[in-house]
Amino acid sequence: MIIAESERTVIRNWRPDDLDLFWLINSDETVMEFFPARRNREESKAMMDRLTQMIETTGYGFFALERKSDNVTMGFMGLALTDLEPALPKGLPEVGWRLAPQYWGSGYATEAAERLLELGFGERGLAEIVSFAVQGNTRSTAVMERLGMVHDLARDFDHPRIPDTHPQLKRHVLYSMTADLWQRRRDNR
Ligand SMILES: CC(C)(COP(=O)(O)OP(=O)(O)OC[C@H]1O[C@@H](n2cnc3c(N)ncnc32)[C@H](O)[C@@H]1OP(=O)(O)O)[C@@H](O)C(=O)NCCC(=O)NCCS
Repeated sequence: MIIAESERTVIRNWRPDDLDLFWLINSDETVMEFFPARRNREESKAMMDRLTQMIETTGYGFFALERKSDNVTMGFMGLALTDLEPALPKGLPEVGWRLAPQYWGSGYATEAAERLLELGFGERGLAEIVSFAVQGNTRSTAVMERLGMVHDLARDFDHPRIPDTHPQLKRHVLYSMTADLWQRRRDNR
């Protein structure tokens, strides 16, 4: 099932043959620098099955990101509904990303995320989409800034699912894009 396409990417539901890539992005030390846990192949398979199911039933979640030129799967891109109470209201739409390192530095994450903002605001009528990352994950906040999202300092939060064993990963910065801001940026292009 294809969710959306950008010039160089396809955003789609998962296929069984994505598992090796999905496992890699859940276990690679460089990719997972700002996450407390690593997932083995079996845990990655279970997570991929859960994501597949969620996408099929709700249309939201973390989708596979494929490069058009050679059909390789590069990682995931999400237009998902948060479940991080009490830090964030349940069901707040977020955009998120995780690519294997060999696909960094080519603009794929920003390009695909632009398309997900268009899906969220232009096609699904959302009022706001947020994105968040560990303070210091500058590669991720740079994507947010390239998208024109605005850092909302008042809504920075401590992630409720980060265990006390990793205090340095708790504090998260929150960036926001409202439908109004998205439309204004669009009109100014
Ligand atoms: C966050 C992450 C997706 C960012 O990836 P990225 O490749 O840096 O981001 P983009 O795809 O937007 O690419 C931008 C870079 O490509 C460059 N680029 C090259 N060709 C380009 C093109 N045709 N168009 C746009 N940018 C291009 C840009 O100049 C920029 O380079 P810079 O980082 O040297 O400034 C990636 O680092 C990642 O997966 N990290 C691990 C997981 C993670 O932390 N996820 C976020 C959790 S909140």
